[in-house]
Amino acid sequence: MTTTPEPVGDPAGSAEPRPRMIIDCDPGHDDAVALVVAAHLADVRGVVTVAGNADIDRTTRNALVMRDLIGLDAPVHRGCVRPLLVEPSPAAFVHGESGLDGADLPEPTTPLDGTDGVEFIIETCRAEEGTWLVPVGPLTDIGLAFRLAPDLPGCIAGVSLMGGGSFGNRSPAAEFNIWADPEAAAVVFDAFDPSTPGAAAGELIMAGLDVTHRFQVTPERIAAMREVPGQLTGLLVGLFEFFTETYLARHDDGALRGAALHDPLAVLAITHPHLFTSHRRHVVIETRGEHTAGMTVIDERDLRERAEPNCSILTDVDADAAFALVLAAASACP
Ligand code: BDR
Ligand code: CA
Repeated sequence: MTTTPEPVGDPAGSAEPRPRMIIDCDPGHDDAVALVVAAHLADVRGVVTVAGNADIDRTTRNALVMRDLIGLDAPVHRGCVRPLLVEPSPAAFVHGESGLDGADLPEPTTPLDGTDGVEFIIETCRAEEGTWLVPVGPLTDIGLAFRLAPDLPGCIAGVSLMGGGSFGNRSPAAEFNIWADPEAAAVVFDAFDPSTPGAAAGELIMAGLDVTHRFQVTPERIAAMREVPGQLTGLLVGLFEFFTETYLARHDDGALRGAALHDPLAVLAITHPHLFTSHRRHVVIETRGEHTAGMTVIDERDLRERAEPNCSILTDVDADAAFALVLAAASACP
């Protein structure tokens, strides 16, 4: 097992530049936390929404609300209204009908900056080479951007995504974000495959269920958030309680102590890579399997004939240190 590369930047006062990123999200409770963390630790050049946990109108509204609450100075662009090929299948059973049930959220006060999310991704990455893409929902926007702009994988620092894993949650084999748009996910994973002509030079990082289930919203962590004064932290407590309730209701007794706080780990993998362990493997996306569509097929063979790795798979995280960063980020918001 190896560790991920050196920290890109330490936002706690160091002179290192913050990593530049675009967050592509479907808020979503854990997406909301990813935005909080990114706003504090990274240079967020924009937020693009995607249909996933809820329909595109709801995820976009939720992104606008979060921008206000965080005080994030970045544009929000609406992305794809539906997956590339499969039917949309929102996850109200996890996130509620609104996508962010559990808190009495205010109306957005700032308008959407555009309905051209995919174009925004392409133009921003071309204009500022070395930008990270951080998708924490289905990969529709990123897959389409890679198809429309084949030069894009060569312009970016990499993709750090939440999705996949060695087990599933939406099906026995598939995690929700990959399952919700497997064709788009296949485009993204293939772009980093060294055997693909013009393969991306940057890194593909996968924060899958293996690592995100090690980062849970435990009662102690909710209590710690409750201690932090402020409007945002109060709302986050309500969101954490709802999210945890749905998780615990859907899992066997004792399987988890709280909801898995998936999405912020895709951000922290870039800003604080030293908190993670990972290994590099070749990963492909199953798009057609009757029982396995959306599966991340990870080549764990020890045969010399296996394909070259295209992906750094996060396997463990220092969960206490990661949650301390979530708390610090939330307490720094207005
Ligand atoms: C992923 O699916 C969504 O429910 C979460 O926001 C996360 O991105 C976990 O499978
Ligand atoms: Ca998400």
